[in-house]
Formats: sequence, C-alpha cells, structure tokens
Amino acid sequence: MKMCRSRIMIKLHSSSPALQRRDSLSALMLRISSPFLSLSPPPSSLLPFSSNCHAPSSSSSSSSAHVSVVEHHQQPHLRSSDLVALEYADLNLSYHLDQGHVRIRQHVNPLSSSFRVPAQVPDWNQVFADPTLPLMVDIGCGSGRFLMWLAKRNPKVRNYLGLEIRQKLVKRAELWVKDMVLDNVHFLYANATISFKHLVESYPGPLQLVSVLCPDPHFKKRHHKRRVLQKPLVGAIMDNLMPGGQVFLQSDVLEVAIDMRDQFDEFEALKHIDALNLSVPCGFECDNEGWLLSNPMGIRTEREIHAESEGAKIYRRLYQKQL
Ligand SMILES: C[S@@+](CC[C@H](N)C(=O)[O-])C[C@H]1O[C@@H](n2cnc3c(N)ncnc32)[C@H](O)[C@@H]1O
Repeated sequence: MKMCRSRIMIKLHSSSPALQRRDSLSALMLRISSPFLSLSPPPSSLLPFSSNCHAPSSSSSSSSAHVSVVEHHQQPHLRSSDLVALEYADLNLSYHLDQGHVRIRQHVNPLSSSFRVPAQVPDWNQVFADPTLPLMVDIGCGSGRFLMWLAKRNPKVRNYLGLEIRQKLVKRAELWVKDMVLDNVHFLYANATISFKHLVESYPGPLQLVSVLCPDPHFKKRHHKRRVLQKPLVGAIMDNLMPGGQVFLQSDVLEVAIDMRDQFDEFEALKHIDALNLSVPCGFECDNEGWLLSNPMGIRTEREIHAESEGAKIYRRLYQKQL
C-alpha cells in the first residue's frame, strides 16, 4: 500500500502490546539517531524462497494489527524515522535498554587497518538453536531490525546472520535479540569484504540467501574501492550459495545498483527472477530495465523506507542460482 505522507495521521491503539512498551511514539523516535536507521509503512509481502507468490498487500498485517491509518489534512508530515518505527512495531523492541540510544558515525572507511582484522568464527551451536538450518546473510545489516523481523516470522525454518561494520549497531542488535529471545538470528561485528568467506564456509548448513541492501554508495570514484561488494566477496557468495539459493540486491542509488547488477549478471549460473518461468508471476514483476518493482521480503529496510519517504526509487535485483 502506498501512502501519501503529507495526508496521513497515524492512530495508535492503546491496547497494542507493541505500544504498551513505549511511552509514546515521539519519545521512542528521539532514541533513534541515525537517518539510515529508519523506515516506513506496513510492508508489501513475502519471501522469495520459492516460486510461491503473494499478493503485495496481503502481509501488511504485522504492523497494521497495531496501527490504523486514516487520512487527515492538518497533521504534520511523519518523519521517516516514525515510519520505520511503525513498520517494525510488531518487533515490540525495548528502547529502554542501555544501548537503545546510540550515536553512530554515518560512514566508516572499511579499508582502514582496524577493519581489516578477520572476524572470529562463532560457535554456531551457541548462536543458533539449530545450526544446520539454511542460512540468510544480510551484508551491511545496519540496525538489524530487518533481519529480526524476518527471524521472528520464520522460526525453525532458517537462520539469519547480519554482518555489520559499525560495532555499536551490533551491540544494540545483540541486546534486542536477547530481549526478544530469538534463537535463529545473530549479528556479527565484521567487515563483510574481509570476513564473509570464512564465516559462511564454517557454517554447518547451506547458504540460502544473501542480501546486500542499500550499501553505502561511496560516490567518489577514488572511493569505489570502499564499497562493500568487491570482486572477492561476489566470488565467495557465488561459491557458497546453495543450488536454488538467492541473491537479493537493492539500492536507492542507480549507479550503485548498476555496479552490483553488473557484478552478478556475468554469472551463467545465476538467473534473474524475471528470466525464470515462475508458475504464478506475481510479486516479482520488473520494469522495462529489469528492476524488481517491489521488495519481495515482506518488509522494507530502514534505508529503503527513508529513501522512499523522500520520493526516491529503489532499484532491486533478485537472482536465483540454477540447480
Ligand atoms: C546505508 S546502510 C544500509 C543498512 C541496511 N542494509 C538498510 O538497507 O537499511 C549500509 C550499512 O552497511 C554497513 N557497512 C558498510 N561497509 C560494510 C562492510 N564492509 N562490512 C559490513 N558492513 C558494512 C554500514 O555500516 C551500514 O550500516
């Protein structure tokens, strides 16, 4: 559902468990400090793990169970951070944890020596209840709310691993995971460019899905080498992805999306979703240039909500490795 932000009033039901844990929406929002860490309205729909389709409006139940939206002409614009909190309302996150309010540098230089130390492989039996389940890895997972939402929705089906180079975000995500008692999601402070390969190679189960969602653009040409998706990382994704596994990419910056697309398009073994003969072709429609029209995961990432609230287009690609 597309919403016109300028004409929206959000009505919060006081009976909502999600909202009982908040003093108020505005108090909550004050604790979310990074513009990259905020999102928007109820999600469209679902999982790309099979050719099963879903109507884009059908899975908006998560947040909409607690939130109803009515048009109102005199209400101020909702900030994208408000929209993020609403989209993730059913996570029922505690913002009273010590780490709930974190000030975070917008960008780091992943090439600096401090970020070139490989992340230690965790004891997978300690971090996941069943470390043999298929794994989704989100590279540059930001706050981690996106993965937590998926993990909560898909218990005992899949494990979720978030790799994030900003340690404060990882620490806060870890506290949230503990608070939510989720046993199928884990976050690691890691430079994905350096650590993805050995981490996934040590994982006991199959690698089912890798996402790189709105990576830092590093616009200047001389800084392109700071972008997370470098050739060795692409190679490691391809080498480790299970047959039938998927790669989901997106960016609100066309140049970055093209860069990522070009790196994956060259693999024969990968087929873009619009080239597959899906029996019911709904939910995976692309525009004339082959960009997926909507996010197939059932929830938008924080950067995606922020960008869409500013009117930006999101460029998406979803690939599947051939059996
Ligand atoms: C623009 S944010 C997007 C966050 C999230 N994926 C989203 O769409 O809302 C990019 C994230 O990637 C992280 N990042 C950048 N380079 C990274 C690297 N080499 N390894 C791991 N994370 C990285 C940044 O710290 C940041 O949290």
